Amino acid sequence: MSALHGLATRALHAFDPEDAHGLAIRALEAGLGPRAGAEDPMLAIEVAGLKLPNPIGLAPGFDKNAQVFGPMLRAGFGFVECGTVTPKPQAGNPRPRLFRLTEDRAVINRMGFNNQGLEPFAARLAHRGPYSEGRGGVVGANIGANKDSEDRIGDYVACLTRLWGLASYFTINISSPNTPGLRALQTKAALQELLGRLAEARDALPPAGLAPMFLKVAPDLEAGEVAAIVETVEANGLAGIIVSNTTVSRPQLASRFREETGGLSGAPLKTLSTRMLLEFAAASGGRLALIGAGGVASGEDAYAKIRAGASAVQLYSALVYEGPGLVTRIRRELAQCLRRDGFADVRSAVGRA
Ligand SMILES: Cc1cc2nc3c(=O)[nH]c(=O)nc-3n(C[C@H](O)[C@H](O)[C@H](O)COP(=O)(O)O)c2cc1C
Repeated sequence: MSALHGLATRALHAFDPEDAHGLAIRALEAGLGPRAGAEDPMLAIEVAGLKLPNPIGLAPGFDKNAQVFGPMLRAGFGFVECGTVTPKPQAGNPRPRLFRLTEDRAVINRMGFNNQGLEPFAARLAHRGPYSEGRGGVVGANIGANKDSEDRIGDYVACLTRLWGLASYFTINISSPNTPGLRALQTKAALQELLGRLAEARDALPPAGLAPMFLKVAPDLEAGEVAAIVETVEANGLAGIIVSNTTVSRPQLASRFREETGGLSGAPLKTLSTRMLLEFAAASGGRLALIGAGGVASGEDAYAKIRAGASAVQLYSALVYEGPGLVTRIRRELAQCLRRDGFADVRSAVGRA
C-alpha cells in the first residue's frame, strides 16, 4: 500500500503544485490515505499537557481549512495543526504562488493565508465533538489575521474565542512572510500587546475549554529578539514556542524557482531552523515547551530537533516529495535512533544535544 501511495505522490508531480495539493486533499477526504500501524509506546510524550501518541506532527498550511485532520491522524501523525485560519474568508495572493524546488527538496510559497474563514473551520472541528482528554486525537488551530483587517489583534482574539473548546491547542502565527507587516508583531512592544490581549481573552473564557497556546516564530530573528520573545511568552502564560515558520533568506539553491518571492521551506531550512531552536532552548531554560519545524524528512532529522530541545516536531514540505506514507518511516527511524543511543523514551532525549 505504501508503494502505491509513493507512486500516487510522484504522479501528482505531473500537476501544478497547488492543483496537486487540491487533489491530495480530495483523495484524503475520500478515504484514500494510508493507515499507520500500531504505535511504538516509546514514542508517546506529553507536551504542555497534550498527550501525543508520537511526537511527529503535521505542520499548518497543509490542512488550512480543517478538512483532513482525521485522515492525517490515521496516516500516523501524532498531532495535526490546521490553519492558518483568519476570521473572514480570504483568497490569498494571485497564482502561481506555490513552487516545488525539486533539486533542493524545498518549497517556496507566497499563499498569503488563503482560507475559507473561521465559520467552516469551526464547524468541522465541532463535528468531532468537544475536545477532551485527547479523544479524537490532538488537533491544533493555527490562527491569524486578515490582510485587510483594521484590528489585527482583534482578529486573533476572535479566532481564539470562536474556537475555544474545539481545538486541542492554539498557535498564534505572527511569522508568515506573506502577509505584509505581520512579522512586525514579533517586536517586543507589539508582541506584548498581542499576547496581553490574548491572555486577557483566554482568562475570561470558560476554564473547561482550556487549551495551551503556542507562539510560532520566524527563523530570521536577530540576536536580541529571541530573549525578548521568550520573556513576553512566559509573562503571558503561553505554553511554548514553535520554531519555525518559513525563511525569507535564500541559501544556495539550484532550482530555477529560487528567486521566487515567498517563504522557503524543506531541506534548505533545516540547519537554520534548528540553530534558531537551540537559541530558544538556551533562552527558555526548559521553562517552555518547544516544537521544532523546518526540513524534517527522516527520523534522524526529527531526532536532531528533539536533541536541540524540541519535545515534538512538525513537517510539511517533505510530504510534497514523499507523500503521507512518510510518517510511518519517520516514526520507525526515530525509535531506532532513541534505542541506538540508549534513551528509553522521547522525553529523556529532549535537549540532550
Ligand atoms: C505551502 C505552505 C503553506 C504554509 N502555510 C502555513 C500557514 O498557513 N501557517 C503557518 O503557520 N505555517 C505555514 N507554513 C509553514 C509550515 O507550517 C512550516 O512551518 C514550514 O514549512 C517548515 O516546515 P517544513 O520544512 O517541514 O515544510 C506553510 C508551508 C508551506 C510549504
